[in-house]
Amino acid sequence: MSKLATESLNQNVLFKNKHPSEHDSRIEILAGLQQKQKSINPKYFYDTFGSELFERITKQPEYYPARTERAIYTQYANAIAEYCGENSVLIEPGSGSSEKVRLLLDALKPAAYVPMDIAKEFLQRSAVKLAQEFPWLNVHAVCSDFNIQDHAPEGLPEGKRVVFYPGSTLGNMSPNAAKQFLMNLRPWLNHDGGMLIGIDLHKPTVTLTAAYNDINGVTSAFNLNVLNHINRLMDSNFDLSHFAHEAFYNVALQRIEMHLRSKLNHIVRVGDSAIAFSKGETIHTENSYKYTQKSFESLADDAGFKVSKSWLDDKQLFSVHYLELK
Ligand code: SAH
Ligand code: AVI
Repeated sequence: MSKLATESLNQNVLFKNKHPSEHDSRIEILAGLQQKQKSINPKYFYDTFGSELFERITKQPEYYPARTERAIYTQYANAIAEYCGENSVLIEPGSGSSEKVRLLLDALKPAAYVPMDIAKEFLQRSAVKLAQEFPWLNVHAVCSDFNIQDHAPEGLPEGKRVVFYPGSTLGNMSPNAAKQFLMNLRPWLNHDGGMLIGIDLHKPTVTLTAAYNDINGVTSAFNLNVLNHINRLMDSNFDLSHFAHEAFYNVALQRIEMHLRSKLNHIVRVGDSAIAFSKGETIHTENSYKYTQKSFESLADDAGFKVSKSWLDDKQLFSVHYLELK
């Protein structure tokens, strides 16, 4: 079967594999580790175990974004449906467990749901589970990197396109990359489409820092697990016990930064290369940018979108926006 062939996972789930090649991943990872400030792209958090750990993060008491966003969908599902319209084609880049879309499906009754994710097995499992719970739903799952958006997913039914991008996943990109990502989505929407997007809001440092340093250590395990994934992809010998999780709020840049700090001077073999770590040096693994209503509206505007409607929780911790093309 060709790599891009569509396969049927069960009677209402189609699956297409457009995962980037391992060769490209290896080049990207090595380049990140050879920079002065070593870094790993956050998409490498999400092997199957990393995806499961993320699900556990969303259930930690300190991690307010997930439960707050869910409460917004629960409260405003009907109002949201008025913007998205019935029978639309709902496309979710970075769909993970597809938990949040469940809160909207009955109100939206989409013609198709298109979960897209980099984590292949987790995506397949989540798509099948969702389709079993919603037997009337047509699911077209696509395994791909949402930063490589050559064109909109193909073979979908007719209908208004609505991109659903919850979780504040946009916050994991720099503002410039976020603008580019939004601009690249414009052609997906035809003339009448829209985007429903969840964005985490700027707030006191103590709340933000706690959300990324849960007391149960799940975020720490999630951060460290990236090294297990890299060991498999790169034939490397990272020892997880040589690194410590670190997450702090960079107030000036309005972003949480996650790092893995080396506890000692040591050398790691990464494929054919040797990467030297000094004690105290870090690998930067993730940024999570926080926005204000104003700064998000300005980003959307720069990318050619207008914010038609916003829904916030009472404490204004999290925001959901419906965007349309300007
Ligand atoms: N949308 C879900 C999950 C958010 S977690 C929710 O709101 O609960 C972020 C998801 O994006 C993960 O499932 C991860 O595998 C996926 N992801 C991260 N980077 C990606 C990339 N570059 N391309 C595709 N999927 C990506
Ligand atoms: C997926 N993303 C929006 C999460 C976030 O909050 O930035 C990933 C995460 N990293 C640590 N905890 C959660």
